[in-house]
Amino acid sequence: MRKTVSFLVLPLLLACLIAGCKEGRRHLIIGVAQCSEDVWRDKLNDELTMAAYAYEDIELRIVSAGDDSERQMQQISDFIKQGVDLIIVSPNQLSSISYAIDKAEKNGIPVILFDRKSDTDNYTAFIGADNYEMGYQIGKFIAGQMQERGKVLEIMGLKGSSPAIERHKGFVCAINEYPDIRIIDTLEGDWTEKSGREAMEAFLRTGDASIDFIFAQNDRMAAGARRVLPGVSYCGIDGLAVRDGGLEQVKRGDLTCTYIYPTSGDRVFELALKILEGRSFERDNYLQSALVTKENAALLLMQAEEIERQTVNLKAIHKLASKYLNQYHLQRAIILLLIILMILLAVFFAFFLWVRKTKTALSEAVESQKAELEKSYEQQHKLGMEIERISSMQTPFVRSLLSVCTDHLADTEFNVNQLADEMAMSRVQLYRKVKLHTGMSAVDYIRSNRLEHARQLFDETDLNVSQVADQVGFATLQYFIKCFRKEYGCTPNEYIKSRAAAP
Ligand code: FRU
Repeated sequence: MRKTVSFLVLPLLLACLIAGCKEGRRHLIIGVAQCSEDVWRDKLNDELTMAAYAYEDIELRIVSAGDDSERQMQQISDFIKQGVDLIIVSPNQLSSISYAIDKAEKNGIPVILFDRKSDTDNYTAFIGADNYEMGYQIGKFIAGQMQERGKVLEIMGLKGSSPAIERHKGFVCAINEYPDIRIIDTLEGDWTEKSGREAMEAFLRTGDASIDFIFAQNDRMAAGARRVLPGVSYCGIDGLAVRDGGLEQVKRGDLTCTYIYPTSGDRVFELALKILEGRSFERDNYLQSALVTKENAALLLMQAEEIERQTVNLKAIHKLASKYLNQYHLQRAIILLLIILMILLAVFFAFFLWVRKTKTALSEAVESQKAELEKSYEQQHKLGMEIERISSMQTPFVRSLLSVCTDHLADTEFNVNQLADEMAMSRVQLYRKVKLHTGMSAVDYIRSNRLEHARQLFDETDLNVSQVADQVGFATLQYFIKCFRKEYGCTPNEYIKSRAAAP
């Protein structure tokens, strides 16, 4: 039993070591609700994903609403239902999704607003650039480029989205500082290149094309509008280092300026981590940004390319590490499975041993009861025989038969004829009567009586075998032994020994 216990304890300890003793924190889920899908968002998602590489216990679930506020509301509700631990959201519009943010807050899920704002105060923290400041700085830059006089046009981003509102306010504020600059129109876009192109096409159908500067609230809309109206100076926002992105456009001279709109996914993730770990954090976090012109575009592009190369390396390292990690998890699962199998085997083996032991004990008990029963049957049978013999002895015939035989016990010559004479009956009559009363022939009866007395002598005296044979009338010792064995199933000596051994 002790062996079986150690057989069980060892694998159990091993299993605990392999399965249990690691990460203390439970699995955490961060839901990321992006408003759109584009290169700027891709960069941000990439940065978030890379920042999460270092945390095996944190899962990112990234979704995009495709510029649809209704859809974004639904996606946030889904996150709440899934029981995510924190939501990072870039609200498509300022007010259309505030209900979903309030709902998350009511459910105790912290919400980080990034890049775009919402008109509810029920958010945990905000992180993003200062859109008003960007609009203002671009306004000042354009005014400088125009020597403080001329006509400008603005193309706004998605109506109702906070960057569009704030960038506009900042831009207007800056331009208003120059009385000789006039904003001739403010067109409506939706952040896409197509919307920039269409807005410009619509404007040109009725408006005056003699414009000095166009401020498109992002680089993509600027590129769209430029296709329709080239030859005018453009400024945009985003300054991405991708192919045909803001930095390349400035370097080529297609854009006079852009403003880097920082994604900073690592900073967003860091803020989320602080909230999840209950550490202190700033509620409103504004990211640093910078104006890009022909002077610094090439340098920024070079740096961005350098960063991109490092990122590619980092991704390759992560891929390799993930591969080894998966292998490790698989091996661990296999070892655990083997240990469980060992435990099952040990339990089965212990059970098998127990069943076998119980079965043996049971059959031993049955056997001994059977033997005892047989013994008691035998005793009962003997008792019955004795009773029968004694009761038959009660008849006057048997009494005198026994007395005659006993009188001649030591007489080796005593035989059936003599017995018949002394009983005063013929040999045939004697035979019949002895048979009737004892079930034996007269010869057998005489011999059986001699042997019965011999047995009694063995029981009651210390006489040896030949002395007893003499006393019960056997002429030869061999014949006595033969008859005794036939009657009692053992030799006289064996009988004496068994009596001595009996308790
Ligand atoms: C990306 C984007 C940027 C813009 C920002 C405003 O989805 O459209 O081009 O600067 O969103 O939130």
